[in-house]
This record gives sequence, C-alpha cells and structure tokens, in this order.
Amino acid sequence: MRHARIEDADEIARVRAESWRAAYRGIVPDDYLDAIDVSEWAQRQRRNIESQSAGIVSLVADDGDLIVGWVALGPNWMTDLPYAGELCAIYLRPSHWRRGIGKHLMTAAAQSLIERGVNSMILRVLTENRPARRYCESLGDSLVSEHTYTIGGVSLPEIAYGWPDLPDLTARAGVSE
Ligand SMILES: CC(C)(COP(=O)(O)OP(=O)(O)OC[C@H]1O[C@@H](n2cnc3c(N)ncnc32)[C@H](O)[C@@H]1OP(=O)(O)O)[C@@H](O)C(=O)NCCC(=O)NCCS
Repeated sequence: MRHARIEDADEIARVRAESWRAAYRGIVPDDYLDAIDVSEWAQRQRRNIESQSAGIVSLVADDGDLIVGWVALGPNWMTDLPYAGELCAIYLRPSHWRRGIGKHLMTAAAQSLIERGVNSMILRVLTENRPARRYCESLGDSLVSEHTYTIGGVSLPEIAYGWPDLPDLTARAGVSE
C-alpha cells in the first residue's frame, strides 16, 4: 500500500475501467460502460494526483509492478451528513477481488484520514451493487442515507454508508498501513 504517483495514472485508470465494466454491467447502461475513455480518465487522474485537488488523496495496492487496487479519500461534501471524510472511490482489478485487498485498502484510507485529523467517513455505493454493499456491511458500517446518482443520463439509487469512528474501524480490521 502506498501513495499514488503521477506515473501510476494510466494503470489506475485501467484498473478503474476494468472494475467498472465488471461490477456495473447490468446496473449502469452498457453504452456508457463500453464508451469509457481510459486515456481521458488517466488524464483526469494525473491532474488529481498532481494537484491533490479538493484535498483528495489516492493510495494504491500493488503486487510487484502491477497496480491491483486504488482508493481515493478526501473531505465529505455532503453537508447534510455529519461525517467529516469520504472514501470517494475504491476499485480493484476483478482478478484480485475477494483476497482481502479491499479490506486492507479501506483500512489504509481510514488511517490516512485519521492522520489528517478526520475520524469519520462515508462511502457511497450504488444500491444495486450488492457485492460492494456486503463488503461495506462486513466492515461494520451502517446505512446513513439514500440518494440518486446520475451516470450515462440514468438516475440510479445510491446508498451512503457511514463509519462514525475510524480508529475503531482500523482497530477492528486489525490491519495497519
Ligand atoms: C468492493 C471491493 C472494493 C471489495 O474488495 P475485495 O478485496 O474484493 O474485498 P475483500 O476481499 O477485502 O472482502 C472483505 C469482506 O467483504 C465481503 N465481501 C467482499 N466481496 C464480496 C462479495 N462479492 N460477496 C459477498 N461478500 C463480499 C466479505 O465479507 C469479505 O470477507 P471474506 O472474504 O472473509 O468473507 C472490490 O470487490 C471491487 O473493487 N469491486 C468492484 C468495484 C466496486 O464495487 N467498488 C465499490 C464501489 S464505491
């Protein structure tokens, strides 16, 4: 687990696109998934890593030279929810799902927020993304609100899960960065 570097941007964009196409097929419109422009995502990623825009920090999990997972964390902008931080994104290569890497990445993200003085966070998940919801629930959060999120012109129901006590999450996960 380490901080993302600018030269990771292409690989992170590929991991994210692979993960979207595998996890969101049947949830997000096929046209949108098939049209994902990985190089455009990589450019955006490069800008974000460079500027840490909006206080967002990226961490990656690697397996030798291969990046296998990416997580982004930052402030929570949903001001109606009393949680200071947000796990903005967490995406793993489908070939590396269900090996404990997601749990490890979430714990590293929580640790990174704690180091910034942020002790609570939310994670927004599409309601139909049932494996990701089970993942959140396994890490001891609770559902805090429901919204919609528009992707590819379609409004999709979304759930925000919340962890009010990140030191407790890291202690229970028993993993540190
Ligand atoms: C969701 C995701 C980040 C989870 O990471 P992961 O490395 O696969 O999950 P872990 O191996 O750390 O799993 C931890 C626990 O979560 C639960 N879990 C994870 N995936 C699950 C699944 N597909 N079905 C049921 N439970 C699951 C289990 O309780 C698991 O513990 P166990 O394996 O000891 O039973 C990863 O699968 C992924 O990238 N999915 C696609 C993208 C996505 O949906 N991102 C979240 C949207 S914001």
